[in-house]
Amino acid sequence: MARILTGIQSSGVPHLGNILGAILPAIEMSRAAGNESFFFIADLHSLTTIKDAAIRKHNINAVAAAWIAFGFDTDKNLFYRQSMLPEVCELTWYLNCLTPFPMLANAHSFKDKSEKLADVNAGLFTYPVLMAADILLYNANFVPVGKDQLQHLEMTRDIAQKFNHLYGETFVVPEAKIDEEVMIVPGIDGQKMSKSYHNYIDIFQTDKELLKLIKSIVTDSLPLEAPKDPDTCNVYNIYKLIADSEQTANMRNNYLNGGYGYGHAKQELFDIIIAKYASAREEYQFLMNNPAALNHKLEKGEERARAYAQDTLSLVRKKLGY
Ligand code: ADP
Ligand code: TRP
Repeated sequence: MARILTGIQSSGVPHLGNILGAILPAIEMSRAAGNESFFFIADLHSLTTIKDAAIRKHNINAVAAAWIAFGFDTDKNLFYRQSMLPEVCELTWYLNCLTPFPMLANAHSFKDKSEKLADVNAGLFTYPVLMAADILLYNANFVPVGKDQLQHLEMTRDIAQKFNHLYGETFVVPEAKIDEEVMIVPGIDGQKMSKSYHNYIDIFQTDKELLKLIKSIVTDSLPLEAPKDPDTCNVYNIYKLIADSEQTANMRNNYLNGGYGYGHAKQELFDIIIAKYASAREEYQFLMNNPAALNHKLEKGEERARAYAQDTLSLVRKKLGY
């Protein structure tokens, strides 16, 4: 049985890019019979950048609700909020004291962030150690992450090996699991869809807001009658990631034949989102309107996670002479 663990950033309502590129593939992976998945909302990491409590609370709930709405099975797997297992903070301290300062100072993501952000706090600096504690606390075998997180995984491995070397076999040394064929969902302006570019599609909006947003997808200005190139059109490029092969072939033909306008394509994109994600959109609204139901699901995962966390910590304390 392989234990798969990953942290989900709680940086806002997940958009279509997050859903197609991260949520659905991770849920698919978690369904494999031989896998046991530990997925958690990295809401302690979020404090490095987000300071507002109300925004944090909303983001945590929105991310959790979206994963559950898309079918992440919280009974088969462990789904929890990082902050509800404060054991991870204690382990972070122990690991901090084994982490060489230059390793953190040389981290790409720290250098990047310290150039871009006005608030360069110590949390940003020790971010990778908290991440190592997230992983080592639960003895994960595999950690699915994007390429930008590879260096953090290398640090986790170094820290685990150092601890094992000094105090005897304690931690599983985890492996990164990188998906080489990552899908890149374009945003409404054709760049990669991202919160930072404000070009994202929030499928959880009302129908009216969603239609308005889809109508704002940037296209060229060819007239309705003209044949069009589907491959350079954002509407088609988003549609084909959601539609099945027959629907995609139909839209493709419509573009190539002419007599089909971008307005038609946008309406079809809207219709398919509404049809395909009807139950997820409904479940999401239900959970956002019923925080007690959402909380209950998360608390079950947190209770199970606590047993693992406490076992690891008591072993670590013993090894360290506490
Ligand atoms: P954002 O760029 O909106 O801040 P994040 O960096 O929080 O998104 O990404 C969260 C997850 O969603 C990551 O696994 C990332 O690879 C995936 N993801 C984000 N944007 C896209 C996209 N446009 N296409 C595919 N996957 C994406
Ligand atoms: N740093 C990761 C990211 O930015 C999120 C994260 C936090 C994480 N802790 C983790 C990922 C532990 C994997 C394992 O996406």
